[in-house]
Amino acid sequence: MANVTFSSPAMPRDATVYAVAGDTSTILALAKRHEIPIPLQCQDGECGACLVKITTLGDKKPMAITLTDKEKLTLSVNGKLTKQQLYEAETNDVPPPYRLACQYIVRDEDILVEFSGEPGVE
Ligand code: FES
Repeated sequence: MANVTFSSPAMPRDATVYAVAGDTSTILALAKRHEIPIPLQCQDGECGACLVKITTLGDKKPMAITLTDKEKLTLSVNGKLTKQQLYEAETNDVPPPYRLACQYIVRDEDILVEFSGEPGVE
């Protein structure tokens, strides 16, 4: 089981929800289930509205590192994923800070998910 903590100026306070082990929900699906107001539009990795900043908590090795092709493209075009960050993710398993909530599959690890409440704005 993973603790997923959402934090945003768009929320009155931080909210921590639990993702069941083996669940393959995206962060966006988990947020919708718990009425967390992450902005969304396409829900398919193409618009960038669901931009979030992810911090892995605890001292376990980060797990959710793999980006979808759509996520790579959209984050790169929007200036939220540098070539160096992509290289580090694909070569050295270093997760990039910004992700798309509709593409990120929650894994069995505790994470902090930060978002501004404005579509595509960190
Ligand atoms: Fe469009 Fe996630 S909602 S990229």
